[in-house]
Amino acid sequence: MPIAQGEGASIMKLRTPTLDDIAWLPRLGWDGKFRDIESVTFGPILAPSNVHMTEGLLIERLSTLPTYAVLFSAAFPDKQINRRNIEMALATFERSIVSGVAPFDRWVEGDEAAIDEPAKRGFALFNGRANCSQCHSGWAFTDGSFHDIGVASGEEIGRGRYFPSSVKLKYAFKTPTLRDVSRRGPYMHDGSLATLQAVVDLYNKGGIDRPSRSELIKPLGLTETEKADLIAFLGTLSDEGELAAKAPAAVVREN
Ligand code: HEC
Repeated sequence: MPIAQGEGASIMKLRTPTLDDIAWLPRLGWDGKFRDIESVTFGPILAPSNVHMTEGLLIERLSTLPTYAVLFSAAFPDKQINRRNIEMALATFERSIVSGVAPFDRWVEGDEAAIDEPAKRGFALFNGRANCSQCHSGWAFTDGSFHDIGVASGEEIGRGRYFPSSVKLKYAFKTPTLRDVSRRGPYMHDGSLATLQAVVDLYNKGGIDRPSRSELIKPLGLTETEKADLIAFLGTLSDEGELAAKAPAAVVREN
């Protein structure tokens, strides 16, 4: 299913964004609604279309489980299971979800055999003629900013919701990290593109031409081989190990 189903069988409005490397994001949510991870926490917990739980019921449920009482008591000076501490606990866990070392990283470190020739050509295109690194920049391949790449249609206008007079922010969504990207289709805020092939085809066409579309997005004229090279490069950004959270295992203390 491209978009998650919430409580009561309702379909969420947007695709669930990855939690990979969110510790480094200046803003969270496809439209940048949230300033920090703590303030996201209760949004989905309380939303009728999502988990649909009340604060009181959540606290009551956690309080009846002895393990949580012990862990909260060990972690927080006031020892309480309350909203603030739940927010901090969940956010702290989420900050530990960090992408692992990918073949691309081993190549950057000097292992020439870590990725193949098509992927190396794809990386050159990514930084060069295909323009991708203008927005997918840095080690996590995101500028943390908002752009209309010409994919959105319909009622969801992304960041434009908060800046109605801005031409460029209409249909602008947050640039997602490309770490582990080959593992998590379907793609985009609305899950509208099923495969990386479809994503690269969209960029090659230049998306929907309209005033809000970023100046950086335009038809690329890539050959089939070049498209395959870009996809090969994207495939080198996934770590090879288990998709395991890097959090230290919870330790239940006796005191
Ligand atoms: C103008 C900035 C910009 C440029 C240039 C750009 N991207 Fe993006 N990219 C984005 C934004 C913003 C999104 C999310 C759009 C949405 O969901 O509506 C995105 C989404 C993606 C996704 C989907 C990721 C996911 O988890 O859903 C992939 C893959 C991707 N881009 C690869 C590329 C490649 C490859 C190029 C070069 C051909 C490229 N991008 C060029 C800004 C850009």
